This record gives sequence, structure tokens and C-alpha cells, in this order.
Amino acid sequence: MGVKLGILGLGTVGTGTVQLLQDKIDRHPLLQEIEIYRVGVRSPNKPRQVELPAGVVTTDLEAIVNDPAIDIIVEVMGGLEPTRSLILTAIKNGKHVVTANKAVISRFGAEIFTAANAAGVYVMLEASVGGGIPVIQPLKQSLSVNQIHAITGIVNGTTNYILTRMQTEGSDFDDVLADAQSLGYAEADPTADVDGLDAADKIAILASLGFGGRINLADVYCEGIRQVSKTDIAYATKLGFVIKLLAIAKGQNHDRSQLSVRVHPTLVPQSHPLATINGVYNAILVEGEPIGQVMFFGPGAGAGATASAVCSDILNLVATLKTDTSKAHPLLACSHQHYCQISP
Ligand code: NDP
Ligand code: HSE
Repeated sequence: MGVKLGILGLGTVGTGTVQLLQDKIDRHPLLQEIEIYRVGVRSPNKPRQVELPAGVVTTDLEAIVNDPAIDIIVEVMGGLEPTRSLILTAIKNGKHVVTANKAVISRFGAEIFTAANAAGVYVMLEASVGGGIPVIQPLKQSLSVNQIHAITGIVNGTTNYILTRMQTEGSDFDDVLADAQSLGYAEADPTADVDGLDAADKIAILASLGFGGRINLADVYCEGIRQVSKTDIAYATKLGFVIKLLAIAKGQNHDRSQLSVRVHPTLVPQSHPLATINGVYNAILVEGEPIGQVMFFGPGAGAGATASAVCSDILNLVATLKTDTSKAHPLLACSHQHYCQISP
């Protein structure tokens, strides 16, 4: 029996995901088990880059999350509402959820994971931070024995793309932002990128996973790149620095209660590994004991890269659904524990 997906959203990430699921079916044996059953959009007559059978695309998103035939909801529509309510309804109906939405997780994660734990379903969020970079699953699982001291990252592709082009080409902020939008990197409302809110959502998620407990968005100091001028960048270069929008979560003397979580433009020495991360690329440097330093690096936004992360979550869930349901799939086994960490 196939696993049926209800996909909410067919924009940059939704289209990339459908393309990967449709066109690369020979890449993984489990892809053949997946059926794209319904896709929810706002404007049904918009030209699309993918072809779907008649009746699959609908504007009735409520019907998708209430459809008993659907096993997994893939939320790639973004925004807070109706997204939060749709996710909660899907969970209540026993559906697993894959989401790329860092805003809904950082603000409503406690409510969503509590509901998921109660319903016995999984909420997967690899694409919510770092685009295509596998960082959520490694933090939850591969590094879970470590005591994390600091997480420092370039976690917004749009602003790193803008700062890189301002630095290397002397480009104007507004022109480069328009390019980042046309390349599909920016949020629907790009002020979330430019003013640091997208990075704040992401570091709140990473800090919750790395340090345990729940890091509220209100606890994250947040300053974006709007005030960074070409003159600032030129002076920084002369002094041996680059300007990066860093997202930082740092403990004081390993004391969780003194955690500092912040996002702001930062002077980074040119010799620092994060100084070399350019364009849409992201990097997340995790420091802990006994691991020392480990850095995750890769494309932080864009259709293909993000679809890679979304599909990895889908495949992990499909693997679970196809195995003995009384035993959790090993990749997911520790997830509930960490969902609890992100809850209050
Ligand atoms: P887009 O704006 O490109 O696409 C959003 C899609 O959702 C569209 O298909 C839109 O329909 C649909 N949609 C939005 N609101 C509604 C609604 N109220 N009812 C019905 N359909 C709706 O967004 P992205 O693909 O760029 O982003 C999606 C999510 O993925 C966001 O949470 C974003 O933060 C996250 N993300 C994005 C990345 C990127 O590189 N773009 C990378 C990592 C995460 P229609 O097409 O009809 O307008
Ligand atoms: N707008 C986001 C960024 C998308 O530019 O990083 C990836 O989360």
C-alpha cells in the first residue's frame, strides 16, 4: 500500500519537492511507495512548473488535513495562520507532519509538539533551518551525548547573499534584495530576512535542540542588516574583517540559565571559517564537549536544496510507516525525546 502525501503549498519549496518526488523516482526505493495525493494552493489558476493529475490541486486546505486517506502532511506554505491551525488539525487526525516553516515552529513549537506527542505522530523539520543542510537531525541525534557550549551560524541565505554581493561587487542593497527574491531565497515578506527575524526563528530552534528547554523568540535579541552600508563593508575589509549576519546561542560557564541568544551583524575576522561562507550558503558551527568544534555547511535556501531536506524527512517517515509500527524507525526513535526538549 502506498503512502499518501497532502502537500500544503506549491511555491518555491513545494515545486522543488514535487519535482524531486516525481522526476527522481529511481533514486530511492521508497520513492515508489509515495503518492502525491493532494496539493493545496491559494491561486488554482497560477501557471505551475509541475504537472499534476486532474483533481490533485485544490484550494481547500481544510479538506486535505481532514482527509482520512492522507498519511503525511507536507507543510511548505509558510506563514503563521492558517498554517498553525492546519498543522494542529492534521496532528489531531493522526497524520505525521513535515514542515519547512521555522516561524510556526519557533512560535508555536510547544503547542505543536505537545499535540504530536499526545497523538503519537511525528513532526519533522529538517528544512526549517539551513535549507538543504542536514543540521536538525544531527543535533537531535548524532551530537546528543555532547554538552553544547555554543551554536554560531550564518542561517539566512538571503542576507548572506546580499552582504556577499555588496562586499564583492559593491552592489546596492535594494538591487541585490530583488535578485534574492527572484531566485526564490527570500521569504514572502522579505523584511523577515532583512530584519533578522528569520534568523531569530532559526537560532531559537537550534538553541532549543542544542541546549534543551524552550527558547522563546522573545528571548532572542534581533538586529538585521538594513543599517549596514557599503562604507561599513569597505572599512571592515580594510581592517581585515567581513560583516556577516550571525545567529549566536552561547552558554555562560556551561550554565543553561545564562544562555545568550542573539542575531546581529558581526565583524568576523577574515581568517575565521564563517568569513568564507558566501552567497546563499549557510554554515552552523557547533561547539561542545567532547566533540570540540563541528561545522555544517551548504546551500541555505532555494528550491532544490530545500526539497532535499523536505524529502529526507518524508523518506524517514515512509520508512517508519513501512516497518513494524510497534517499533519506531531508528532515525526517529530519539525524536520524541527531543520534541519534549523543545516543549516548555
Ligand atoms: P512561496 O511563497 O514560494 O510558496 C508558498 C505556497 O503556499 C504557494 O504555493 C501558495 O499558493 C501557498 N499558500 C500560501 N498561503 C496560502 C494559503 N493561505 N492558502 C493556500 N495556499 C497558500 O514560499 P516558499 O516555497 O519560498 O516557502 C515555503 C515555506 O518554506 C516557508 O515556511 C519558508 O520559510 C520555508 N523555506 C523556504 C525556503 C526557500 O528557499 N524559499 C528554504 C527553507 C524554508 P499560490 O502558489 O497559489 O500562491
Ligand atoms: N528566506 C530564507 C533564507 C529561506 O533566505 O534563508 C531559507 O530558510
